[in-house]
Amino acid sequence: MASNSFTSSSRTCLAVVLAAGEGTRMKSAKPKVLHEVAGRSMVGHVLAAVAEAGAGRVAVVVGPGRDDVAREAQRVIPHASIFTQRDRLGTAHAVLSARDALANPVDDVVVAFGDTPLMRAETFGRLRAPLADGAAVAVLGFEAADPTGYGRLLQQGGRLVAIREHRDASEAERAVTLCNAGLMALRGDVALTILERIRNDNAKGEYYLTDAVEVAIAMGYGTAVVTAPEEEVQGVNDRAQLAVVERDLQNRLRSAAMAEGVTLIAPETVYFSHDTRIGRDTVVEPHVVFGPGVQVGEDAVVHAFSHLEGALVASKASVGPFARLRPGANLGPGAKVGNFVEIKNAELGAGAKVSHLTYLGDATVGAEANIGAGTITCNYDGFAKYRTVIGEGAFVGSNSALVAPVTIGAGAFVGSGSVVTDDVPEDALAVARGRQTVKEGWAKDFRERSLAAKNKR
Ligand code: UD1
Ligand code: CA
Repeated sequence: MASNSFTSSSRTCLAVVLAAGEGTRMKSAKPKVLHEVAGRSMVGHVLAAVAEAGAGRVAVVVGPGRDDVAREAQRVIPHASIFTQRDRLGTAHAVLSARDALANPVDDVVVAFGDTPLMRAETFGRLRAPLADGAAVAVLGFEAADPTGYGRLLQQGGRLVAIREHRDASEAERAVTLCNAGLMALRGDVALTILERIRNDNAKGEYYLTDAVEVAIAMGYGTAVVTAPEEEVQGVNDRAQLAVVERDLQNRLRSAAMAEGVTLIAPETVYFSHDTRIGRDTVVEPHVVFGPGVQVGEDAVVHAFSHLEGALVASKASVGPFARLRPGANLGPGAKVGNFVEIKNAELGAGAKVSHLTYLGDATVGAEANIGAGTITCNYDGFAKYRTVIGEGAFVGSNSALVAPVTIGAGAFVGSGSVVTDDVPEDALAVARGRQTVKEGWAKDFRERSLAAKNKR
């Protein structure tokens, strides 16, 4: 992604990501922030964005006993420090749970919510900019189509003076449509002082982070508003909102792929993961799903109804239609994987062809080898997995079972219908099936005998 003038700023930054929400409206056994969008947890998206925006230090606030959230956070940012908010007493209270992180000197503190996964790194950068110009608090605002439920940004003479939570707002204040997105930046030298002055005298009896604005004004500090499109700041509280966020992120990923020179014949039917990488001039046909960890080179084709996950596809390779590439599939340049083929943890050399109805698991296939229809690697005996090695230019006849561990030498032939249990030397022919016998006239005799017997009854 493009870097920008803000991320290259020399100011140090601590990001505090709030992920202590219960998310009861998700009706889920797992915490809300671990629900996934485009193949990555919501909190993972937020953390990746703050890291990209140049936050050198990251603190994540989790609920009591939420080791799963802590693990996910440290998977995305290994050096993230984890803090537990014991009682859920509000957003300011949540930020103060990371008091030890805030006590360490830093130029900028950015607070983000773990359930707002579409926030762009560039926006975090824009939000920090007013701090460099002296503001103590900068708030991210957006024009809400329906402001119900959001905190309203109250301005006087073009200056942000307060944020009023919906349930605390007067009729006049509720008419304001400029709303709080939930993202806030505070100057590091005053952040702790401001947060500690916040009281819980409101309708919910909670410590509101939003009150940082009024506290800052009372202390004589400057405040600022930075705006972002609503699409970017929408939060997820239930499964319907999760689906909306998924749709919007998919549209972003589709546009980005096309902008990079990828042809999507029917973009609305192609599903990407956050980390899908596709080279230019590659064509992706309708109804293709990319799970996490897929890279496709240039000028390749992914035909309709294919499912790829954890797979590498080199330039000029061809996949599908109806192909399944599972983790560890690695297709060399110009390799071909055709219809109803499943590949798992297997490498295909340049120009290798696996055109129809095949399962290759735990295998290495040399360049230009040809794997006939219906070939199966028998890689699993119920206890362990074994490898199949097929040399360059080998030809495996249709409907063969290769019982691993087994090696087919370069240039060797396997007769179709073989069950191969022993290694095949280079350039040899292996036939491992019953030999065909032919009985001249047998069928005719059989019919005549059978007919005569039937007529006698
Ligand atoms: C919050 C804002 C509101 C804004 C809206 C945007 C406050 C007081 N209000 O309201 O102005 O318009 O977001 O979506 O900040 N959390 C904790 N611990 C707590 C409370 C909350 O970790 O004790 C976390 C939640 O997990 C969530 C985030 O903070 O990620 C926001 O809390 P939530 O209760 O959803 O705030 P809203 O009512 O949506
Ligand atoms: Ca919320």
